[in-house]
Amino acid sequence: MKENTPSDETKLFTKKVSRRKMLKTAGVGGIGVVIGASGIGGLLTLSDSRAKGQTKDIVPFYGAHQAGITTETQDNLYFASLEVTTDKRSDLIQLFKDWTEAAAQMTAGNLVGEASLNANMPPKDTGEAKELSPSNLTITFGVGPTLFSKDGKDRFGLKSKKPAELNALPKFPMDALEDSWSGGDICIQACADDLQVAFHAVRNLVRIGRGKTIIHWAQTGFQRTKQADSGKTTPRNLFGFKDGTVNPDTNDGSEMNEHVWVKVGDGPDWLVGGSYMVVRRIQMYIEVWDRTILKEQENTFGRHRDSGAPLGMKNEFDRVDLEAKDSNGNQIIPENSHMSLSRGDGKAKILRRPYSYADGMDPKTGSFNAGLLFICFQRNPSKQFIPIQERLAKNDKLNEYIVHRGSAIFACLPGVKKGGYIGDSLFG
Ligand code: HEM
Repeated sequence: MKENTPSDETKLFTKKVSRRKMLKTAGVGGIGVVIGASGIGGLLTLSDSRAKGQTKDIVPFYGAHQAGITTETQDNLYFASLEVTTDKRSDLIQLFKDWTEAAAQMTAGNLVGEASLNANMPPKDTGEAKELSPSNLTITFGVGPTLFSKDGKDRFGLKSKKPAELNALPKFPMDALEDSWSGGDICIQACADDLQVAFHAVRNLVRIGRGKTIIHWAQTGFQRTKQADSGKTTPRNLFGFKDGTVNPDTNDGSEMNEHVWVKVGDGPDWLVGGSYMVVRRIQMYIEVWDRTILKEQENTFGRHRDSGAPLGMKNEFDRVDLEAKDSNGNQIIPENSHMSLSRGDGKAKILRRPYSYADGMDPKTGSFNAGLLFICFQRNPSKQFIPIQERLAKNDKLNEYIVHRGSAIFACLPGVKKGGYIGDSLFG
């Protein structure tokens, strides 16, 4: 079959959607405006399969809960925190509708909007994920405290709906937070087994939001890839330790209900089935760590580096006994080790889903600018993340090697049913 030449494509496009109709749908008066316009409601419906026939590596977008929280962790992350610039509630609602449609398309491995066939218009989809697998892409949306009210102002008529738990986190000892890595009205967490697919997702959502939102901060994250570790062992962080050994079991629905999902009676009903996400951008002084002797490294975490076993034990998943003593009567796992302090009495659990980052060089010190984008989910931050971090910030041995540079909290909206949109329980 003859390939489409540009002029054939243009004809085909003109047949499918007349330019007049397109401008009308976009609600704008000229091509120059269309380029940056985001009012694309009707144009998102026709879409083109990215990698034809692809049915593998798709995580369902619709469901009781948003994907990207208890679904299997992917290799890569692109995280964006956005500020809302429009002051119209109706704009915001339309944006969530457009995002829902686009997110459903992209997670299914489709392009956003119809294939671009008009050489005189910018393509709808930005194109870099064409031919790429869906890569288990998940897109998770959350709303920050400032969406509900900012400087005392009820921005979108949402103030009375703000959950009591959704507040900027308290200042912890040792925090060195920077505004440029903190807060945000809305977050988009895109995780995929391919970074280009994750970036494409956020880029297209930000493009759709142009004129209504701007990026406040953004961060890429990585873990070892599934190709590099087909055995699915616990990933290691940039200090070389297995990170993620102890976490609530995401396959156990009752554990997720107890620790992760917001329940009826926890706060406003619109958030039932959602979850609170805490994000901390933690810089890790890897050069200092690299000069630290192994024994000290292991005492810092309370685990052996190679096996990931609790100190004094052999295997990663061996039972942790914080009281165990050596033959001289000394406690084997130091009380100020990261494991000991983060565990506490073991009752308050968080679901950790962090990614490492490496952002070139820190110009102030000439060292690596690297660390952990610590992300965790929970049902109640004031009973879960906050008390754990209070203990860590005061005494954690790990504090010699890390510093918290960014902080944010978001209420991740409940999942969405086909026909609905992300945020419909909040705005409805
Ligand atoms: C750069 C910062 C951090 C690094 C490198 C780090 C690393 C680790 C490592 C290696 C473990 C032991 C293995 C495991 O169970 O996964 C661990 C456990 C844990 N960490 Fe962190 N962590 C960091 C920050 C945090 C923060 C900010 C929190 C929460 C406030 C936290 C909470 C926990 C919890 C709850 C555990 C499991 C403890 C248990 O019950 O055994 N971590 N972390």
